[in-house]
Amino acid sequence: MTHIAVLGSTNMDLVTYVTKAPQRGQTVTGREFRTIPGGKGANQAIAAARAGATVSMIGAVGNDSFGLRLRDTLEHSGVDTDFLRTVEGPSGTAHIVVDDEGGNSIVVIPGANGTVDHLSPGDEGLITSADTLLLQLEIPLAAVVAGAEAARRHGVRTVLTPSPVQPLPPELLAVTDLLVPNQYEAITLTGRTDPREAATALLELVPEVVVTLGATGSLYLARGVDPLMVPAPRVTAVDTTGAGDTFVGTLAVALAEEKPVHEALSWAAAAAAISVQRAGASVSMPYRPEIDARYTA
Ligand code: RIB
Repeated sequence: MTHIAVLGSTNMDLVTYVTKAPQRGQTVTGREFRTIPGGKGANQAIAAARAGATVSMIGAVGNDSFGLRLRDTLEHSGVDTDFLRTVEGPSGTAHIVVDDEGGNSIVVIPGANGTVDHLSPGDEGLITSADTLLLQLEIPLAAVVAGAEAARRHGVRTVLTPSPVQPLPPELLAVTDLLVPNQYEAITLTGRTDPREAATALLELVPEVVVTLGATGSLYLARGVDPLMVPAPRVTAVDTTGAGDTFVGTLAVALAEEKPVHEALSWAAAAAAISVQRAGASVSMPYRPEIDARYTA
């Protein structure tokens, strides 16, 4: 079985469902409020575990009730939490507004995630034992760089989701194998307005790029091969929160299993399409049999 390590965030998502998100200065009445375990790191870990990998999570939760529930949710999906530390203070939270079209806006308060600013004893050993290390940018950059460098030292594939988007330092790009921005992040990182041009510019920095294009699908570029555009299944979205994380976690499993790239992208797109038809991030992610049933070659 493939082994995926995730170095990243855990957040309790505080989600408000509303017809239309309020504008600045406006007050609106929402429909429902839910607390749903999330965080880009934890989401990717759960997606990968449900897709069939052995998964270990490196990160931190606070010593509050959210922390207990975040750990419990990971464990329930089969994610190993031995390297998920509990630290003094609040867990990370994400304040999310989801509108009737399934779109969202998110403010993240790092909480315990902010303490993950270095690799702790044992983390490198765990990374060494994995096939792939998944990274995002919801923990301090120093730890992301240290994790990616450790992975590179041991020949472990690194997959970076550059979200929340911020300038990527050369030392991180130098140890990134696959970069998976969404369209907005690709454009922000490169200053190009066309996703294909943005992807091409990113390919000068890392060997492989996948730009996720929401309902349109994904665009894959690698050095020396023709670009690949893989469409997403057409579905009606109720909540797109965590769709990108579902895609990345599932894609990492498929690539580690050495599925052909086209198949891996379609399989990941099938998983993301299932997740957007359900509310919430981690709770919406499909298990492998559902992905297989939805996948079309
Ligand atoms: O990518 C979705 C995630 O972003 C949410 O679960 C939220 O926690 C934020 O981190």
